[in-house]
Amino acid sequence: TTVAVLFGGQSGEHEVSLVSAQAVIAALDPTRYRVVPVGISKDGRWLAGSGAMAALVAAADSTRLPAGAHYPQEDLEADEVEVAHTGGAGQVSVARLLPPGVDVVFPVLHGPRGEDGTVQGLLELAGVAYVGCGVAASAVGMDKALMKAAFAAAGLPLLPWLLVRRHEWQQNPEATYNQIEAALTYPVFVKPANMGSSVGVSKAKDRDGLAEALAEAARYDRRIVVEQGIPAREIEVSVLGNDEPEVSIPGEVVPSGEWYDYHAKYLGGQSAIHIPAPISADLSEEVRRLALRAFQSIDGAGLARVDFLLDKESGQLWINEVNTMPGFTPISMYAKMWAASGLDYPTLLDRLISLALE
Ligand code: DAL
Ligand code: MG
Repeated sequence: TTVAVLFGGQSGEHEVSLVSAQAVIAALDPTRYRVVPVGISKDGRWLAGSGAMAALVAAADSTRLPAGAHYPQEDLEADEVEVAHTGGAGQVSVARLLPPGVDVVFPVLHGPRGEDGTVQGLLELAGVAYVGCGVAASAVGMDKALMKAAFAAAGLPLLPWLLVRRHEWQQNPEATYNQIEAALTYPVFVKPANMGSSVGVSKAKDRDGLAEALAEAARYDRRIVVEQGIPAREIEVSVLGNDEPEVSIPGEVVPSGEWYDYHAKYLGGQSAIHIPAPISADLSEEVRRLALRAFQSIDGAGLARVDFLLDKESGQLWINEVNTMPGFTPISMYAKMWAASGLDYPTLLDRLISLALE
């Protein structure tokens, strides 16, 4: 089976994707799979071949590369071939999107233009099988406002939140602040609707902080979600499957900083993880039941990691979000929760590829 592994991509999570994909490429059993690496540069060039990873790592922002990233030594001039260009501004050339002979694509891409249904749509058009969620689930899973709408329709417990449109805030900031303060109490989390890995996310503790946080989120998206902050524990769980999805043992992340931001996630913050999460058996069952419902509410397929907030004061469980292409190294939560549930990393990759070909 020939597997094209896509990595990099045009989002703020480009560097995270390089690390996830390095792990996937290293763990795919060479006796079963022929791996074709395909790197997507930040400006949308698709490079296929063994030099693609080295080319993208060399061009990456080294201050954003997660600890543990490898620096491949291949000749940068090696055999990378530009197979397509989706850089926008009329530069679309997908005459030969992928090298010939690919059976299945593993889009190890995080964030917009990769995890959000766009690449999935291209692969649908190309008629190629791919790992993970389809177009709609990917799009809804990437858009925090649409995701909340799907969760609400499924009766999942959601913290209070508001959608802010960038142009409305720019035209009348005071009215936006008043509206937020009428609906929520500080602290609040301010997030671009479409992004991951906490890129563009801030916690605001007062009106000045809110103004700064909206400006930061507005760099990334026209739509911004503002969520009620609570003192909470972060509980996560992994889902795997198509029509009959299975759910792993839940885990808990204890962020090194005040909250689980990009630094705590990737840049040496000493976040602790506990698998299984130290919660009661009843609560663990509740997490698993709600995760399945969340996965199905967006019509998930293949995989997702579902994240919850557990109120430290009331003990109430709230759904936070679904990630349709969660961080994917063997030491990422997604894989570790499966390992603790009896599924090792290479077997997990086999399962995902079989699910893609179903
Ligand atoms: N968005 C990152 C990769 C995650 O959810 O793990
Ligand atoms: Mg996310």
